[in-house]
Order: sequence, then structure tokens, then C-alpha cells
Amino acid sequence: MITVHTIRELREHVRNARTSGRRIGFVPTMGNLHDGHISLIDRARGDQCFTVASIFVNPLQFNDKNDLARYPRTLPDDQARLSAAGCDVLFAPDVDEMYPNGQQGQSIVQVPVVSDGLCGASRPGHFDGVSTVVTKLFNMVQPDNAYFGEKDFQQVAVIRKMVADLNMPIEIVPVPTARAADGLALSSRNGYLSEQERALAIGLYQTLQEIAAALQTGETIASVLNSATERLNGRGFVTDYLEVRRQADLQPATAADRELVILGAAVLGPARLIDNLQVTLN
Ligand code: PAJ
Repeated sequence: MITVHTIRELREHVRNARTSGRRIGFVPTMGNLHDGHISLIDRARGDQCFTVASIFVNPLQFNDKNDLARYPRTLPDDQARLSAAGCDVLFAPDVDEMYPNGQQGQSIVQVPVVSDGLCGASRPGHFDGVSTVVTKLFNMVQPDNAYFGEKDFQQVAVIRKMVADLNMPIEIVPVPTARAADGLALSSRNGYLSEQERALAIGLYQTLQEIAAALQTGETIASVLNSATERLNGRGFVTDYLEVRRQADLQPATAADRELVILGAAVLGPARLIDNLQVTLN
């Protein structure tokens, strides 16, 4: 695997791969890679793509400066993992390469409606930062396919809508959430948890599973969510949101909708954890 730090070198490698007839698969990340990230690389490789990963901790999508400062940066480990997974090129730019004119007063990409609510409500400006940096990365890599984890379900919805609205010729490939043995969704932020908190962390996914089971029995969404929030708080979390939305467009679900996604975010000690569960009502 080759690591490059500049857009010029990145474009050269991508151009060479394309000239030799390869399709380009792109996996954007912020590093501190775990098996969830690697499952995206595996999928791109499985699709026979020349695989480009990026590692860039994007300041524009962090509304909390402390969160940005403490975000783990582990480039040598990440390079070893990507290389072992068969990634072809790693693009690891610094902030000046990505934002040579600074971050204020520059063009941004805003994806309305789907960016509002859920994580958009508790992290103002977050999805503008995501859609802007992903657009920039797409323009740098110019991939055929781009791979995103369903762990960040709202992010996938934002990117899908952006690509459709702006006619970006890129196929967005969603990849199922990779989980630890107990069911906890893998996340870089799990590393902030103490051993005791790590044991409690599964409570978020458990709560989503209980919501799914209650919805299958025909209970109303409002009553299910009420008791679930209490239960999640009782499990040591401070609930940010628990919501039931439509899978297709992430809009609030009505009683007539069958293809649902249950989304949750909650703070456990030093970490804000998110997870979701797709469910089809019988
Ligand atoms: P990051 O949090 O590093 O995640 C990079 C990609 O890995 C995202 O598509 C995310 O959904 C996926 N991912 C994370 N945990 C996963 C898991 N347990 N199972 C499957 N996929 C998982 O998401 C970002 O970075 C950034 O917002 C980014 C898109 C790179 C823009 O800066």
C-alpha cells in the first residue's frame, strides 16, 4: 500500500489505476481504524475495485473543539491495518492540504431536511461539515463507488441525497454495522469507555432490540419510545434521542409505514454512542 499526503500524488495514482482499466472504490474515514472500517475495505476489494482509503480528522464537522482535540490519531497502526486488508492507496492529507484557504468563508455543501433532527439536532453544523468534506474528497478521488457504514445511518442518508441532488456520478454502497461479540457497534469512541462502562455499553443496542420487539406486537411508537427512554436512562445512559423513522427517507414514521429504522444516541460516561436497527413490521 502506498501512503500519499497530497492531492497531486493521489490523483496520479488514481489516474494510473484508471488507465489500466480499474474501477475506483473509495472508503473515507477519520482513522483510528477498527474492524468496522476494515469491512468497508473488504467490500470495496470484493467489488474488484482499486481501493483508496482516506484518513482525515475533519475539523469542519466537529462542533465541540474538545471532541476534535481528543479524537484518537493512530496513523502507523491504521497504515498496518489497511495494508494487511489489501488497500491500494491511503490518502492522509493535513488540514492545510484540505483547507488551504482556512475553514471560514469558504463554499459549503448543505443537504437540507435529512441533515436536520437526530444527530443534526444535537450536533449543529455537523452534517454540513460531513457533506462538504465528502464532496471535496469525492472531487479529489473521483471514485466509481464509495462505501459508507450503516452504523452512521443518517450520514448514509445525507450522502445519498447529496449525490442524487447534485448529480455526482458515484454509487454509494451502504455496508452493515460491524459489532463486537456482545452486539456493541464498533466505534472509535468505544475506546473512551472504562471497563465498567464498556460492560454497560451494550444497553443501547439492547434497548433498540426491545423497541423493535414492542413495535412488532403492535404497540404505538409514542408509547414504546416513552418506556424505552426510561429504560435506557436506567441502564446508566443519558439519552440524547430515541426515534423511529422510515428507512427510505429518514422522515418520521407513521402507523402505515412498515420499513422502519430505530435510531438512538446516548451519552455513557465520556462517550456519546450512536446505533440503529432496521426493522420490517409484519
Ligand atoms: P469515521 O467515523 O472514521 O467512519 C468512517 C466510515 O466507517 C463511515 O462510513 C462509518 O459509517 C464506517 N463505520 C464506523 N463504524 C462502523 C461499524 N461498526 N460498522 C460498519 N461501518 C462503520 O464517518 C466518518 O468517519 C466521517 O464522517 C467521514 C465520512 C470520513 C467524513 O469525515
